[in-house]
Amino acid sequence: MLKTNKTLDPTLTGRDAEHLEANLRRKIVGQDEAIDPIVHIYQTHLAGMSPQGRPIGNFLFLGPTGSGKTRLVEATAEVLVGEARAVIKIDCAEFQHSHEIAKLIGSPPGYLGHRETHPLLSQEALNQHQTDKVKISFVLFDEIEKASDAVWNLLLGILDKATLTLGDNRRVDFSRSLIFMTSNLGAAEMSAILRPPLGFAAGATAGPDETLGGKVSRAGVEAARRKFTPEFMNRIDKVVVFRPLGEPELRKILDLELGLVQQRIFQSSAGAPFVFSLTGDAKSLLLREGTDLNYGARHLKRAIERWLVHPLSNLMATEQVHSGDVIRVGYDAEANRMTFHTEAENLPPYALAELAGGLPIPPPARAAFVAEVERPRNFGARTTRRG
Ligand SMILES: Nc1ncnc2c1ncn2[C@@H]1O[C@H](COP(=O)(O)OP(=O)(O)OP(=O)(O)O)[C@@H](O)[C@H]1O
Ligand SMILES: [Mg+2]
Repeated sequence: MLKTNKTLDPTLTGRDAEHLEANLRRKIVGQDEAIDPIVHIYQTHLAGMSPQGRPIGNFLFLGPTGSGKTRLVEATAEVLVGEARAVIKIDCAEFQHSHEIAKLIGSPPGYLGHRETHPLLSQEALNQHQTDKVKISFVLFDEIEKASDAVWNLLLGILDKATLTLGDNRRVDFSRSLIFMTSNLGAAEMSAILRPPLGFAAGATAGPDETLGGKVSRAGVEAARRKFTPEFMNRIDKVVVFRPLGEPELRKILDLELGLVQQRIFQSSAGAPFVFSLTGDAKSLLLREGTDLNYGARHLKRAIERWLVHPLSNLMATEQVHSGDVIRVGYDAEANRMTFHTEAENLPPYALAELAGGLPIPPPARAAFVAEVERPRNFGARTTRRG
């Protein structure tokens, strides 16, 4: 025996958990308290230390609408198995009657439509998106406060024993699942704390400071305790109340969303890969138009669609932008509209990708460059002016 006295650091996480954490922090703004428990539970699972016969983790997400609850679940699936659509989403409000429950678990043998129904929660559905490396599935129950008794019983069984019995008595095993539940409980109390929005200036000052976030959090947890039985609350590994998003968070989300628009352009089947950038004025307009403390980032996304994506689509459809273009988007305050200028032309794919922050250009879009060389430029195309 060799005697030593080494100090160990239990706060370090393994490389896979670190990768998950770093990527979630990149994709999700201002909700680190929600990211941490997911990373911890994933690390525990990787170490083989998760309790047996239960799902890997049961999470209850509360908090304002548009604050990233659903997005965090999708982002976790994106990072771990490569696609957001790996998440099986169950909107509890949709499953009130017994024929609707059949969509979840299938109907018993002999019932009308028994063979035709493919239950949403089958083992195949759970395993479908697992990869060789990551054998985890993701299940999201939205608006659980609206679940009927039948769905509620189903949910309790899954949370506690990680099993579900289908209509035809087959068993589904959830012990390799992360279960997420969301609820808008306490939303009224929470938005009362947040006050109605008073325009952009109010958004800037009413950011998620400690007391505001703390109050909202307490209101959420108290509402959940009032509504849900201790039996249910005891099965939850972690209740997370998402913070209301303030102006600094929305500013960061704006940049993330603009990156996603750029990605959509590169992946567009219309195939004219170009890059765009926004002036400070144009970004401020989007933030002003997209800030509504009651609707979170969802409002911002609508502003991006209306002020940026729609006009860009018109420019693409009328061939005013071409492969290899660099488009600058500004804002004309007097006319209250976005302005679009071609700032450079004929950039090769690698230069475009670099301008887009290293975003790769997929092969179909690359092919557009070859086509573009042989096509005459067509600024006077048949165009219809739109609003
Ligand atoms: N914290 C965040 N970080 C990054 N993006 C966010 C964040 N919050 C919201 N978004 C953006 O806003 C969109 C809407 O958010 P999300 O669907 O996650 O809202 P939610 O909290 O689930 O709201 P609801 O309670 O209405 O279901 C997301 O798809 C994402 O693009
Ligand atoms: Mg949601």
